[in-house]
Amino acid sequence: MIHPMLSELERAIEDLINARQAIMAMVVSHQAPGGSLAGKLVFQAPPQPGELKATPEEIDGPYFRLGAPLRSNLLEPGDTPELVLSGRVLNEQGTPIPSAIVNLWSSDATGNYDMVGHRYTGYVLTDAEGRYEFTTIVPGCYYPRDAKHLHVKVQGDSSPVTTQLYIEGEPGNEDDPLYTPECLVRCTVDARGTRYGTFDFVIRQVTERQNVTPESLAARV
Ligand SMILES: [Fe+2]
Repeated sequence: MIHPMLSELERAIEDLINARQAIMAMVVSHQAPGGSLAGKLVFQAPPQPGELKATPEEIDGPYFRLGAPLRSNLLEPGDTPELVLSGRVLNEQGTPIPSAIVNLWSSDATGNYDMVGHRYTGYVLTDAEGRYEFTTIVPGCYYPRDAKHLHVKVQGDSSPVTTQLYIEGEPGNEDDPLYTPECLVRCTVDARGTRYGTFDFVIRQVTERQNVTPESLAARV
């Protein structure tokens, strides 16, 4: 039989963990610097029949910088390729989106973001099959996050979709308040220790009817 004080202690610990996760979520949300998702809860609409589920959206975080260079190789001098990330950008019907922008930024190996230049930051355009690829490092972790993560903005005929990716096998993923298994990058590892991760982004495309046209502007007057 479990001593009553032990079960009370367990409940108290569980409450503390839940409270910590709630506070962490608020802290991370509060730090978002005014991006379109800053401070907002984002609810994903369920997929309609025949649709893929859209990639979950997450906050920008405090370290997004405009002006990323066009490049797929984010390695700095002295780095070794630790992560080759590739995949496709698809619409909700599974059709590849060519010329979509995939913009990736992460911290360095010690968890620091470059707020002056663009280290570990770059964007690429998807090819005719909707494919993208980056070569980079496994970023470090930084307070108050528990998981190593890569920030990504993806844009086709749409507003930018902001999300974060997590690396399979890294410690702390499940402890992070923003972690979702839907954003976990499955990886294989070669003999040199380079990880090859694949991830397909699914983003909603605006329809011509939803877009701004002279007719829709006239209708608003
Ligand atoms: Fe971050």
